[in-house]
Amino acid sequence: MEHLNLDQIKALDKKYYMNTFGDRIPVCFVSGNGIDLTSTEGDIYKDFFAGIAVSALGHNHERLTRELREQVGCLLHTSSVYYVENQARLAETLVENTCADRVFFCSTGAEANEGAIKLAKKYQVEKGRPERIEFITLKNSFHGRTLATVAATGQPKYQAPYLPLIEKFTHIDINDIEALRGAVNNKTAGIILELIQGESGVHPATREFAEEARRICSENDIALIIDEVQTGIGRCGKLFAHELYGIKPDIFTMAKGLGGGVPIGAFCASDKFAAAFKPGDHGTTFGGNPLSTRAGLVVMDELINGGVLENAAKAGEYLGDSLNKLMSECPRIAEVRGAGLIRGVEFKEPIAKEVGNKLFEKKILVGVVGDRVLRIVPPLIVTNSDIDILTEAIKEVL
Ligand SMILES: Cc1ncc(COP(=O)(O)O)c(C=O)c1O
Repeated sequence: MEHLNLDQIKALDKKYYMNTFGDRIPVCFVSGNGIDLTSTEGDIYKDFFAGIAVSALGHNHERLTRELREQVGCLLHTSSVYYVENQARLAETLVENTCADRVFFCSTGAEANEGAIKLAKKYQVEKGRPERIEFITLKNSFHGRTLATVAATGQPKYQAPYLPLIEKFTHIDINDIEALRGAVNNKTAGIILELIQGESGVHPATREFAEEARRICSENDIALIIDEVQTGIGRCGKLFAHELYGIKPDIFTMAKGLGGGVPIGAFCASDKFAAAFKPGDHGTTFGGNPLSTRAGLVVMDELINGGVLENAAKAGEYLGDSLNKLMSECPRIAEVRGAGLIRGVEFKEPIAKEVGNKLFEKKILVGVVGDRVLRIVPPLIVTNSDIDILTEAIKEVL
């Protein structure tokens, strides 16, 4: 296909696309290789954003591309009315490598969270407590854009246009153990946590808070749901962030990295909770199709057996150390947060957009959160020398 130039693409977008994204960052990429992305204008950018923490294996990964081509030439979709080999095999991989007993595949993170919420409610129905329909989540959390997940999201700016919201969520401050205990009542069906809040600027929960959430859920026989849509699939240096915290959720969700760029989401549960779903209680047309689950199989195999998880852990540590060193040299940095390859750099002044723009001019892509935070979530194949390029560039810009 012959490509349009950037101005032509912008004109089409302005005329035909719903204006939900406003003015986008002025670039359009046409190809990629590793952590490099090439634009319509032929410029090469270093990608430390990975399409919002998605491209786990980087761009145009040799094996992922080859296996997807093979799958495309074979079979794309049949539906879960029939058995699907790749779906069954990816379910096995996820269960055999995590604390979960059962999996359900869908296509996005929001959908995975919706499924988790439904499962937690259905569990209470099965237990004869149908009045338990409410959830506790955190302020500044992000759980998705469907109506239930917007309600779960603890950021009023995403909720305001859609009030009243359907589901009841009580939002408490991260790491406020007393508030967490105080929020549980006889209508609560579960607690939903991001262990590291990515979208709102990389805010980690403490270990004590996560452990307390686990304890409260066990005491009350309600679901501890960990949203691993952003933190999962190796991003924190472990397969899932809950491993870092030493807790076992009843249900956990994932998406983003699982398909390496092919849309796929999933929620996993212990047998105790998964058993609440009976035939017909949940479903999807696209979820777990042969193509997306083939992508998931490659990503998981590269992570577990191909050294990618090990790289994410080592490079993640190097990224953390490098950013902490940068903070000691640059007084404009207030704080560095996160784990593995999800890191936030907070500035003392509202300069994040300007820093992000200057990095963009240097052909380096990072995320910007609000006025003060850079979000750094590179592909999991990033190397120490790539990280040096990033930290050197931030230093120059500051
Ligand atoms: C923690 C978390 N949960 C859920 C979502 C929603 O995922 P999706 O955009 O695939 O629906 C996101 C997306 O950024 C996320 O970061």
